[in-house]
Amino acid sequence: MELRRHIEESVHFITERTRIVPQIGIILGTGLGKLVDEVEIDRVIPYEEIPHFPISTVETHKGNLILGTLSEKPVVVMQGRFHYYEGYTLQQVTFPVRVMKGLGVKVLIVSNAAGGLNRNMRRGDLMVITDHINLLGDNPLRGPNDPELGPRFPDMSQVYDPELRELALQIGLEHGIYLHQGVYVALPGPSLETPAEYRFLIRIGADAVGMSTVPEVIVAKHAGLRVFGISCITDLAIEGVVAPLSFEEVVQAANEAQPKLTLIIRELVRRMSL
Ligand code: HPA
Repeated sequence: MELRRHIEESVHFITERTRIVPQIGIILGTGLGKLVDEVEIDRVIPYEEIPHFPISTVETHKGNLILGTLSEKPVVVMQGRFHYYEGYTLQQVTFPVRVMKGLGVKVLIVSNAAGGLNRNMRRGDLMVITDHINLLGDNPLRGPNDPELGPRFPDMSQVYDPELRELALQIGLEHGIYLHQGVYVALPGPSLETPAEYRFLIRIGADAVGMSTVPEVIVAKHAGLRVFGISCITDLAIEGVVAPLSFEEVVQAANEAQPKLTLIIRELVRRMSL
């Protein structure tokens, strides 16, 4: 299958340029790139150099694949991700997850900036993702399935690893960082939600809304990876609180929350058993 050949070519290109065999893959969301400062870097590869990788178009996302160690564990970090709203197909958006799996990754950690739909939330809070709702109107697994990559109908009854969630909550407790837990809903964007849409999302059981993560997580699950997801609440979408929102505000709030997020991920990586 062509997809498998593309994955193999990308994996080959990367393994020739690093001695790192990553066990953990990390995707850094909007305004959340600082974790890279904690990585002992072996190699930085710009996305545009990697065969078959799409090229990032959002300015706030640096497009680099970083190989190194974090908390003494070998990691591969995506500094910047690909979004559906940029015009990529979901197969393109999730291609790097396939490559991560090909490199040796067992656990995928995903982060994102999201709007808070839960009344207990404040701007700058973090939410451990317990489950998701896919409202993208598309699925990265649509089309022919390659059984070598995963099953036709992958189970989604428990996508977000309970052990990793528990570990994160424990780390939060120890460091005085409150972590919400909740459901992340993905919309295609790029327009933000209307008040009626926010009310709808709250009613269907979502706690945070964003434009990413779900495609990568579906493919990770398809590929048999364990998944941990965390949202940075950059704005509040609660009735009576909804205010005009700019992308700059989203980035600023994510930037401010970065130290907390960095600590959680760094410690999670340190303590997780592989
Ligand atoms: N809606 C959708 N995506 C987002 C939001 C939001 O309110 N905040 C950050 N990403």
